[in-house]
Amino acid sequence: MSEFEPKIVAYCCDFCAFAAADLAGAMRLQYPPNVRIIRLPCTGKVDAIHLMKAFEQGADGVFVAGCLEGQCHYLEGNLRARKRVAYAKRLLAEVQIEPERIDMFNLSSAMGGRFAEIVKEMTQRIKEMGPANTDRRQQPVES
Ligand code: FES
Repeated sequence: MSEFEPKIVAYCCDFCAFAAADLAGAMRLQYPPNVRIIRLPCTGKVDAIHLMKAFEQGADGVFVAGCLEGQCHYLEGNLRARKRVAYAKRLLAEVQIEPERIDMFNLSSAMGGRFAEIVKEMTQRIKEMGPANTDRRQQPVES
């Protein structure tokens, strides 16, 4: 049987995390191919509904990667994103999905190595948890 390969969605700010992912590629750093990147002008654009939709569409893990705190090009976008990630964690817990499946990271455009580490870390974490199995929430409640 083949090993479980998680699907991970990464919402990345164009200025920092996306540039860091690009740098990781240019540096030829090896990291698992499990991540699909969604490029955003700023992580402040991401809302809890987007994070939850990713799980609904089959993601096993999700992360948001924005600029370092205090360095968001739109001032507080990354701080708002952090609050939304925290809210999404609570929503996941309510539907009996491990909140650790979602996380927020901050990095600069020069941190290509850190981006590769984050992908490795998230992939390992999700592999240990197994598939998100969102279908289990749809089972009827016994009366
Ligand atoms: Fe990067 Fe806001 S511009 S998180």
